[in-house]
Amino acid sequence: MPFYSDEIIEQVRQSTDIVQLISGYVNLKRKGSKFFGLCPFHNEKTGSFSVSDDTQMYYCFGCHATGNCYTFLMKHENMNFVEAVQFLAEKAGIRLPEGNESAEAKRARSRRERLYEANTEAAKYFYKALRSPQGEIGYEYFRKRELSDETMRSFGLGYSLQYKDDLTKYLQKKGFTIDELCAAGLSSYNEKYGVSDKFYNRVMFPIMNGSGKVIAFGGRVMGEGEPKYLNTSETEIFEKRKNLFGLNLARSSRADNFILCEGYMDVISLHQAGFTQAMASLGTAFTMDQAMILKRFGRDVLLAYDSDTAGVNAALKAISILRTCGLNGRVINMQPYKDPDEFIKNLGAEEYRKRLDNAENGFLFEVRILRKNYDFSDPAKKTDFYNEVAKKLCIFEEELERENYIDAVSAEYGIPGDALKKQVISLVLRGGVKLSDTKARADAGAGYQAAKPESDDSDKYAQRVLLTYLAEEPKRYEGIKDLIDAQDFTDPIYHKVSERMFSDMEGGVPNPASIINMFEDADEQQTAAEVFHTKLDAIVTDEEKEKAFRDIVLKVKQERFDHDAKTAGGKMSLDEKLKQKRMMEELRKRMLS
Ligand code: UTP
Ligand code: MN
Repeated sequence: MPFYSDEIIEQVRQSTDIVQLISGYVNLKRKGSKFFGLCPFHNEKTGSFSVSDDTQMYYCFGCHATGNCYTFLMKHENMNFVEAVQFLAEKAGIRLPEGNESAEAKRARSRRERLYEANTEAAKYFYKALRSPQGEIGYEYFRKRELSDETMRSFGLGYSLQYKDDLTKYLQKKGFTIDELCAAGLSSYNEKYGVSDKFYNRVMFPIMNGSGKVIAFGGRVMGEGEPKYLNTSETEIFEKRKNLFGLNLARSSRADNFILCEGYMDVISLHQAGFTQAMASLGTAFTMDQAMILKRFGRDVLLAYDSDTAGVNAALKAISILRTCGLNGRVINMQPYKDPDEFIKNLGAEEYRKRLDNAENGFLFEVRILRKNYDFSDPAKKTDFYNEVAKKLCIFEEELERENYIDAVSAEYGIPGDALKKQVISLVLRGGVKLSDTKARADAGAGYQAAKPESDDSDKYAQRVLLTYLAEEPKRYEGIKDLIDAQDFTDPIYHKVSERMFSDMEGGVPNPASIINMFEDADEQQTAAEVFHTKLDAIVTDEEKEKAFRDIVLKVKQERFDHDAKTAGGKMSLDEKLKQKRMMEELRKRMLS
């Protein structure tokens, strides 16, 4: 694949008029300094999609899709980055040089490329093996599970042979080094046994990223055995938190919702039954990052988690994460079956469609589960339940919405509506419930600082919010530039963004559209672009804004130090620790003066 230098990529971008480009796909009308139209990335009736002449970016106020001319083509036309550059260069009449690339860029880029290629080659190998005589056992397994050839093909299912290192040898012959194969998660090295394949004698499920590149695998034992599924561990190209199994297919489904499942087989049987909007988080709990990815599409999210206790708990967590990101989750009732796979096998697609239509509102689901903890024959317990429900109802800030929920809950549980309303209002007035928290949650854009993400990546949110501040008010950079540097941004994407942003700001203002160019992956571009489109609305007065800014700078710095300490393991010297402590104190003093 060719590679182009930053300069040429920027030159092509500057020679492109984004308004003109997007006008070719979307009917745009001028409104003030911007152009508006119907968003091509989500279903809508009113035009929330804006394109700015000044910044040469687009932004949707509905689904928050955002980016520059390249991202637009990548998302809308399914091009990869290089294709987008070539397309626009040709339009602009710019001749692209062949093979100019900085050595360092080439290394970093080709490393990732190599890992993608290794995974792609492995997927082809597994795919072939499934269809070979030796793979019959795998093929039979899938047939027993009622998968059609067509389904096996569209998911690229495969089989890993019963040899210790057949794949490793095969890929070595193709020119991959052991180091690359280990880094791709396909092989492992051990002093005693040498190099071996990670997967053998399992049916294989390739995992693709949003743009359809193979990044990892799940392998299932055929029958009993531990672990049931063996998955690629995290690698440079595979971050579990940020990927969803099946998203590459589900994104192009025509449905106005996504079905979020627990497992590989659930997704596959749903697709086979015609529900091509199904996807799954990858054997781990649903994350904020995944929710933010889904949010971009502006579709409803229907949960199809197992009906057992573990599944219900996972669904409760997912609902709360979705809510934090401003999304309403609904829950599909699969009773009396355990999961979509079983359900469809027994009752069929028609019946499942009905369950989709009747998916339960996430909040009402939460209340129904909560109800199970209270024995209503005891008036005290009943009161406790009412109080809990009243507290929960405080998350709705809009009166009308809150009243609707109060009505629904009081009807369902026989709670006198007026009494419940009074209780909710008195709770709100007593400030027992953090309204600012819920306000921020309602708008995930601003939600980052107030809502506490449950995952351990709250530090990333602080980093992002700081960048957003600086993007919104570049003059703030002057005041902190000797306190904060790119090293403080431990998240790789924010690190890159901050580096460029700081260097831009030395000479003036940051240039968002060009910062986004630095990333090739659509998801990375989106993450970078979001920095420039978050509104800090949750903060009201200037004074509050000042304070929030100070807090966020301190938080980023503290987390950087914590991160350093963690990376150093026990090895950080006392001197180093004291130095950090002094620096934090100094910083605190400076920020307060
Ligand atoms: P399940 O145990 O519900 O598996 O785990 P399943 O998807 O229903 O698969 P079948 O129908 O039994 O074959 C749900 C998901 O959790 C992850 C996998 O992603 C799986 O699809 N998981 C489960 C693992 O990663 N490892 C395991 O050992 C088990
Ligand atoms: Mn299952």
